[in-house]
Order: sequence, then structure tokens, then C-alpha cells
Amino acid sequence: MTLDALRALPKAELHLHIEGSLEPELAFSLAARNGLELPFADVDELRERYEFADLQSFLDLYYACMTVLRTEADFRDLALNYLERAHRDGIRHVEMFFDPQVHAANGVPVDVVMDGLLSALEAGLTRFGITGGLILCFVRDLPVASAAATLESVAHRTGDLLGVGLDSAEVGYPPSLFEAVFARAGELGLHRVAHAGEEGPAEYIVESCERLNVERIDHGIRAVESQAVMDMLVRDRIPLTVCPLSNVRLRAVEHLGAHPLRQLFDAGVIVTINSDDPAYFGGYVVDNYSALAGVDYTLRELATMARNSIAASFASEARKTELQ
Ligand code: HPA
Ligand code: ZN
Repeated sequence: MTLDALRALPKAELHLHIEGSLEPELAFSLAARNGLELPFADVDELRERYEFADLQSFLDLYYACMTVLRTEADFRDLALNYLERAHRDGIRHVEMFFDPQVHAANGVPVDVVMDGLLSALEAGLTRFGITGGLILCFVRDLPVASAAATLESVAHRTGDLLGVGLDSAEVGYPPSLFEAVFARAGELGLHRVAHAGEEGPAEYIVESCERLNVERIDHGIRAVESQAVMDMLVRDRIPLTVCPLSNVRLRAVEHLGAHPLRQLFDAGVIVTINSDDPAYFGGYVVDNYSALAGVDYTLRELATMARNSIAASFASEARKTELQ
């Protein structure tokens, strides 16, 4: 199966932390532009750190690199870089996560982040015809009050957001902590998604569905540990945004051949393929599709997952029809 065949599949990316698309070269050039020092000598030394033991060891580096993102132009350049790449890979629609609480801690107001990303999305639409939007993620290992305050700070511009999500360190931070915040997001007319069952237990997937009323689960791979959870995902048609290369790099899965995607797909769960943090995990979306082709997924199966990604997106029905 050629890369071109995989590129040609119309697809959406639904699980992308835009900060995770920060390539080392851009990190260094933004650091220079902003008069900041990164704690690495050069691009090569930074790349050498891309060896992760688990989610936390990745998050430490990810948050360190994010400190170079300071201005509206930085966020625009970051997202435009991603969109150019996405266009080459046949991505027609993208729903981008961002972490405003982390940027606020670096002194960057949420409006600056959103304005930069929205400006890139506008350019992506005119230049490449890529549709999409923003999903504001709450960092689950920060206080719930901080998440609630962040949501209120954007309540006047919910039209600039598709929805809210929940990310960062999962174990020990159950979804139920964020029940009131997600209820408020629902009142504001926002879509809801949450990372669950990446490193955390299958129970967090159920909690996300029942207490946070999420419409999709990000990762969700530990669902295979519980038949009841698998049955719920199939029955309620809850899509999973699976990130195969990420799971291998963060050692949630030993190797691609042992990835739970096969069980999920065969059981009839609506699975989609995504990159998560492509600069850090050795691949963008098409690299994930291609790696799966290398472990015996057929073009027909991969095309089904690509179609799933469009159906599971928050694009308008008209746009979905156009892309299917
Ligand atoms: N999991 C949780 N939080 C994250 C991730 C992830 O894979 N990437 C960026 N933030
Ligand atoms: Zn993620």
C-alpha cells in the first residue's frame, strides 16, 4: 500500500494537541524571536530527549518546550506549519486541542492563544480548504477552580470554540472531578470530549460518558480490559480518537502489533486514527496510518477508520456529506 493511497483518503484529525506539533527547529526559532533560552544546547540535544518512559515523562518535556510560545504570531506560525503538513497528508478537517492554563502560567492570555490559532485556521481554510476549529482542554492535574475560571474567561466567545476537552496526567485525576465544569460547558453550547483510558482505568471511560456527557473519548484503549465498557461504546456509538504511535512511544502499548485497536475495530467500536503530539511521537496522521498498514491493516479497514473520522467530527452535516 502506497503512502499516496493513504494520503488520498479524505480524513479528519480529531486528536491533535497543537502544541505537540512544535518541531525542535521551530521551538528554537521562536525562542530566539522571543529572547528566551531553552534548556537544551540545540535541536539535536532536544531530539535526543524524545525517549519517554510514560505519559508524565513526555508531559515534562512538552510543557518545557511550550514556554517559547508567547505571541499571537507564534501560535499562528505553529498552527500554519501543522496545516501545511495536514494538507499534504489529505486532512480535510481538523479539531485542535490547546492548553490555555499552561500558556496563562507562561504569561500568555487565552485570547492571544485563540486569536493566533483562529487566524491560522482561517488561512488554512482559504489556502487549503481545510475546515475545523478549536477544543479548549482543561489540564486535569491543575485545580478544578482553575478550569472553571478558564471556562468563564472564554464564555463571551464560545462561538470561537468547538468544544472543551480534558488532558494531561490522567491517573489519580478522575473525570468526575470536572462534572460541574463540563455541565457548564454544555450550558454554553460547547461540545465535550475527554482523554480517558490512555494510562487510566477503563472506569474513567464510563465516568467520562456518564458524568461529563462526552461525545467522544480520546484514546480509550483500556476499554479492551472490560467487556462492559466495550459493549457501552458500541451500543452508545461513542467514537474513540486512537493515537497508535503515541501509545507505543509512551509505552501504554508494547508494540504496534499488540495495539488494542484490532480488538476495538473488530468489536465494532467506532475508531479513528490520530497523531496526538506528532512532533514528539515520530509521526503525523499519515505516518500513523502507514505504520498500521505495516502491521496488517488493509486499505479497506484504514478507509473505514478515515470515514469514521469524518463522521465522528463536529463538522456540519453539509460538510460531512461533502467529505464522505
Ligand atoms: N495525554 C494527555 N495529555 C496530553 C497528551 C496525551 O497524550 N498530549 C498532550 N497532552
Ligand atoms: Zn492527547
